[in-house]
Amino acid sequence: MLCFHIKELERGHSINIEFLKDKLKDFYDDKTLVKIIDGLLVDKFVSFRTNFINSTDEYVACELEKNNLKFKKLNLKDELQKRGYDLREYIDFFDFQFFILENRNDYNKLILLDIYKNGFIYLQNPSTFIPVILMDLKDSDNILDMCAAPGGKSLFIKSLKKNKTNLTSVDFNKLRYEKMLYNFKMQNANIYTINKSALDLDDNLKFDKVLLDAPCSGSGILDLNNNDIHKYFNDILINKSIDRQKKLFRKATKLTKNVLVYSTCSILNTENEEIVKSFKNKQVFNLKIYPDNLFEGFFVSKFIF
Ligand SMILES: C[S@@+](CC[C@H](N)C(=O)[O-])C[C@H]1O[C@@H](n2cnc3c(N)ncnc32)[C@H](O)[C@@H]1O
Repeated sequence: MLCFHIKELERGHSINIEFLKDKLKDFYDDKTLVKIIDGLLVDKFVSFRTNFINSTDEYVACELEKNNLKFKKLNLKDELQKRGYDLREYIDFFDFQFFILENRNDYNKLILLDIYKNGFIYLQNPSTFIPVILMDLKDSDNILDMCAAPGGKSLFIKSLKKNKTNLTSVDFNKLRYEKMLYNFKMQNANIYTINKSALDLDDNLKFDKVLLDAPCSGSGILDLNNNDIHKYFNDILINKSIDRQKKLFRKATKLTKNVLVYSTCSILNTENEEIVKSFKNKQVFNLKIYPDNLFEGFFVSKFIF
């Protein structure tokens, strides 16, 4: 009998948990399963970062203090190391600071501040910084973000390099694409965008660095408080995601000159390790993040061509 966080008992999540356990049990031992489910049940901190295109950490901190919002500045490297993740030779890449609110309810105050309204900050989970950081960006890079909407990782690329780098962001979903255009405008990011399937990009196009943040089942970010999750997190979604991931990964390998980073917010091996295993010889780094009160469940893999 596995013992989960007390909240499971309080909220009566047993149907969803059984369903999820069934999907995960082939990949994880009991201890890790408990950790994953606890991590999906626990409330997350509100996290955000500065948009370096038009602001600085100092300015953001000053505005938060001025408006009496209690916050902490965290270091991504420290938070990952604290949780025992092995960052190997990439360790210093992760020396990046971001913010969390001490009180989750202050979210409502945060989104009323000018720093939010003017695009000086961007609400973003720290797991999603990892694929971009691994790209080891240079000002002169020509970059492709193949599945970009609503634009969080594209915006982080632009922010880190203060709008330098030549970035093309693609997404085939019209609604999500529109939302992405809005976000790019709000954050003052200068990005070339394409609204079509990345699978239809010309193979002769070559990019120094490619990010494939693939469509996935979202098993690392499941809302276990939603009693209907088995209606959308099911075998149909998982199989559809795997099919898309295989096609998109194959395409990504054709478009990459130097560096390819593959990521998903799923923790199922079938959507991650299994998808990229054909390029094992070019794989230089692999990291799976388990969900907890700070991080969303995430997988990332870096390839050098
Ligand atoms: C995980 S989300 C991307 C999140 C985004 N990278 C971010 O950080 O905000 C996956 C995206 O892939 C898009 N997508 C799925 N298949 C695609 C395809 N063949 N070509 C382009 N975009 C695709 C979906 O519309 C969805 O917006």
